[in-house]
Amino acid sequence: PLIIFKSHDGETKEVHAETGTSIMQAAVDNGIDGILGECGGCCSCATCHCYVDPAWVAKVSPADSTEADMLECVLEPKETSRLSCQVTLTDEMDGIIIGMPKSQY
Ligand code: FES
Repeated sequence: PLIIFKSHDGETKEVHAETGTSIMQAAVDNGIDGILGECGGCCSCATCHCYVDPAWVAKVSPADSTEADMLECVLEPKETSRLSCQVTLTDEMDGIIIGMPKSQY
């Protein structure tokens, strides 16, 4: 599926990734600056914070309790905040828009 990453200042970058990959991995593999993913995807660093575009939220499975706890320590949380390592790409997410915070910490 296609992912459109959108930086805090509105700059977009399109990336293609395999179904089953996490959004964090797709970002890291494609050199997206706004997502760090320091723990490698084990939901313990919260440096992969992103905002799922409201139009796409319904296509994304909700956060589990571990992720929800970690989301309490991100900067500038929003309703649509997620840890991108916990969002696995499905075919239905083709064209998903992922916003990124100004900073991960
Ligand atoms: Fe560390 Fe997502 S990569 S919490």
